[in-house]
Amino acid sequence: MNIVDLIIKKRNGGELTTDEINYFIKGVTDKSLPDYQISAMLMAIFFRSLSPQETADLTLAMVHSGTTLDLSEINGIKVDKHSTGGVADTTTLILAPLVASLGLKVIKMSGRGLGHSGGTIDKLESIPGYNTDLSTQQAIKQVNNIGLAIIGQTSDLTPADKYLYALRDVTGTVDSIPLIASSIMSKKLAGGSDAIVLDVKVGNGAFMQDITQARQLAKAMVEIGNSLNKKTVALITAMDRPLGNNIGNSLEVEEAINVLKGKVKGRLKDVVLELGAHMLVLGKITNNLETARNMLNENIANGKGLDKFKELITAQGGNPHVCDDLSLLPQPTEKFTVTAKKSGIISQMDTAKIGRASVALGAGRTYKGEKIDLSAGIIMNKTVGDAVQQGDKIAELYASDIDKCNIAADILNESIEISNVEKKPLPTILEVIE
Ligand code: URA
Repeated sequence: MNIVDLIIKKRNGGELTTDEINYFIKGVTDKSLPDYQISAMLMAIFFRSLSPQETADLTLAMVHSGTTLDLSEINGIKVDKHSTGGVADTTTLILAPLVASLGLKVIKMSGRGLGHSGGTIDKLESIPGYNTDLSTQQAIKQVNNIGLAIIGQTSDLTPADKYLYALRDVTGTVDSIPLIASSIMSKKLAGGSDAIVLDVKVGNGAFMQDITQARQLAKAMVEIGNSLNKKTVALITAMDRPLGNNIGNSLEVEEAINVLKGKVKGRLKDVVLELGAHMLVLGKITNNLETARNMLNENIANGKGLDKFKELITAQGGNPHVCDDLSLLPQPTEKFTVTAKKSGIISQMDTAKIGRASVALGAGRTYKGEKIDLSAGIIMNKTVGDAVQQGDKIAELYASDIDKCNIAADILNESIEISNVEKKPLPTILEVIE
């Protein structure tokens, strides 16, 4: 087999065989293929796309490029969850303990922030002492003890995806539906769970900007999962405005705790309930979505979800008292209020830009490995559709450096459109693809 022939075949719109895709991924994994040929293949895929069979083959080849988790030591159905990423999306921190408090076994591998969107591992590290770096065996033991572990992704999982992702990032080939679908699903399948609930975000803070693209991505991932015998459900949810009110690591932990305490309602909680209900049904805790929603609400009201979160924090070396005393979370030294420049209705938000304002405050990275400020971020006081008077508070910025607040305030002001025309925001949950 010759890689040049395969690139030409794909460039001309041909369909690669399973063996040809395996050959390509083997060359990526053992580094026998140079970056220029891998990049040429990625660009050919970007323009010519992949058939469902090719997408499944690519996914499996990436799964087998590294180790896969064997979760057979954990009794019961293990259900994983993945979000395609957004702003103020702290669902995992609420959802994982909540479903675990109802008996579902959850072993969740999460990532760090990427671009404008935050990452669960960074958020958890704002809890003093919390260790995200458990071995697989430690995580399995913990799930057997308390039903739940949230850890960083181990480095030997899907190395081909890691390599391809880094190349895609710098060759203009990230936003290809089969490449995104196979990238996400390879990690989920290698993670070893029995079933998967996907949260595919749509809107200007997401990879997928419109519902047609989001539906295609959701269908591609559901098809991959189901074709490989992992029951997969995808929810398409809105990311045309921040999901919660808080953006930034310790601020999102704070909001997660407040949702678990029943103090915060709204869109973030709605998405948690919907994803959680599907997880409970896939995990056969109940066979009815409405019952599942009620169970989740009940474990918010009776505090069992919050207790499970405290158990998780304790098991991973963190200080569970943060749940009772939020001032134990990292605290910023600077606070800055952003007010409405004019009166009207908030007709639109550039959500990715709001995420970038949070990065400018220090909550995210601008280069690989950058140290972030866990206390930095934004609390949004207004959202799309709200009426404002000139001078009303729109957001509060937090950082350890006032210059950063000034820069972020400019970015935030640019990202919020105030007009006299009311535009309808997207419904929070748009579709369920099964
Ligand atoms: N997230 C991933 O893990 N992979 C992609 O390709 C895009 C988002």
